[in-house]
Amino acid sequence: MPDRKILVLPLLVAVPALAEPLAVLPRSAEEAARVAEVTAPATGFGRPEPYEGNPAGASTVPALAGGKAFSKPSAGMDPVRELDFMVGKALFEKLWVASPSSTKASDGLGPLFNARSCLQCHIGDGRGHPPSEPGAHGVSMFLRVSIPAEQASNGIEGWIATAPDPAYGFQLQDQGNRGIPAEYRMQVTYEEVPVALSGGETASLRRPAYAAEELGFGPLHPDAMLSPRVAPPMIGLGLLEAIPAEDILAHADPDDLDGDGISGRASFVPSRETGRPELGRFGWKAGSPSVRQQSAEALSNDIGISSPLFPHHWGDCTEAQEICRGAPDGGDPGQGGHEIDAGGLDLVAFYARNLGVPARRGLDAPETLRGKQVFHETGCISCHVPKFVTARLEDQPEQSFQLIWPYGDLLLHDMGEGLADHRPEGRATGREWKTPPLWGIGLAQQVSPDAAFLHDGRARSLLEAILWHGGEAAPQRDAVIAMPKPDRDALIAFLESL
Ligand code: HEC
Ligand code: HEC
Repeated sequence: MPDRKILVLPLLVAVPALAEPLAVLPRSAEEAARVAEVTAPATGFGRPEPYEGNPAGASTVPALAGGKAFSKPSAGMDPVRELDFMVGKALFEKLWVASPSSTKASDGLGPLFNARSCLQCHIGDGRGHPPSEPGAHGVSMFLRVSIPAEQASNGIEGWIATAPDPAYGFQLQDQGNRGIPAEYRMQVTYEEVPVALSGGETASLRRPAYAAEELGFGPLHPDAMLSPRVAPPMIGLGLLEAIPAEDILAHADPDDLDGDGISGRASFVPSRETGRPELGRFGWKAGSPSVRQQSAEALSNDIGISSPLFPHHWGDCTEAQEICRGAPDGGDPGQGGHEIDAGGLDLVAFYARNLGVPARRGLDAPETLRGKQVFHETGCISCHVPKFVTARLEDQPEQSFQLIWPYGDLLLHDMGEGLADHRPEGRATGREWKTPPLWGIGLAQQVSPDAAFLHDGRARSLLEAILWHGGEAAPQRDAVIAMPKPDRDALIAFLESL
């Protein structure tokens, strides 16, 4: 891979200089003006906007029927890059095995792990779901854990200091290699809560309660804070990474100066790649700055595979877990002593950047267009920002300078008590979540019938996901409850077309 040029942008934020980790070419004033024009929100809803049918610009893929709709590579890739994609795919799908093993290239699993492959959680390259039977092992979601701490040492303003649980680390793993106890079994129970909607309709929300049971290494710290996370979908991630940081920050309004009740705060997180704070974009609380770092973290914490970015072969095992720190590892001199080397990590990240976003379906149907209008006029677009234009990137043609329609601002919002996990992460409080992109959401349950929505998969339908909105989004939720049923149905039809 060619050396990356780093462009340092002078920004009016109280963090050290923010760098674009990608090889970004600057925009001309003329281009900036065009970008402003094409990303302005829609005003007319009689027909689709130009290019609206291709949410990922030229990299949009046809919307396949069946379970493979999220598994196609970005459109227009040259054959050499497509080959890299296929090798990355093999690594994403590979089932890792415990060391020692005769299959040198695939060993190093654990000692503790949540799953044996990326695909086991990102089902069909889409999202995961809560356990289908109570207390099942090896599910496509997990609990993060941390305890309050005195102060942060990374210098990022607004950082809420936390520390790993002394016995369990930052994440609970529900599986262990032979001889190593699993850390826990995740228990989730639900209580159905009825919500009355206009026109006599009633919806039912399931309110979850989480517990870590059958703890393998003694009790959790008395102040342990738990955060449930379900695996999010993998499509379009390279495009989200390629949105210029200043275009995301342009939507931030931390003190709600425009008085619309919606703040939007940027997450800044230390980057293991650039050594500086970067804008957080990935994870449900925007806790990770790049696809590559998030992938390396997943290898380490979710599967137990070390890499140059997360070099410890014991993954998330703590010093208190001696049996785990001392277990055999799959570090290989041919792989720089790691269980996956830099080249392998690059291929996984390349794959993760290049899962294509499917084309819209039926976007010119009258009901869908009406739903789009409701989505805009209700104020969903205050957070679910429809459009961005990606940066010009020297070495990433698939992501370079595309008009994209993710429907998410990647900023943190207070979503109220109902969704709160009460576990801060970085600058995000225990009530804040990142507005996730909505592209492809209408195909989620086609890709994986069990797919469920929101950070912990508590919402079984798109309507339930909306009804869980609170905090800054309470007015929009209330508007959806109060609006005539045909408008509510149209709103859902619009989401289904994304
Ligand atoms: C045990 C389940 C699990 C496994 C295995 C797993 N992931 Fe994930 N993945 C998640 C969860 C949960 C999140 C959200 C994390 C957060 O909120 O911080 C996530 C987030 C991500 C994201 C960010 C997506 C976004 O939109 O924010 C990427 C990229 C990713 N995973 C890549 C991978 C790769 C690559 C692998 C394999 C090396 C992998 N994951 C394995 C559960 C998993
Ligand atoms: C204040 C910002 C805000 C507003 C306004 C808002 N949302 Fe959201 N939305 C979010 C956040 C943040 C999440 C993720 C919450 C979570 O996972 O707990 C989310 C999640 C969703 C999801 C589920 C996404 C997924 O991947 O699971 C849907 C669907 C959705 N919103 C639709 C809407 C609609 C429709 C409206 C307007 C009626 C709306 N939202 C208004 C911030 C907002």
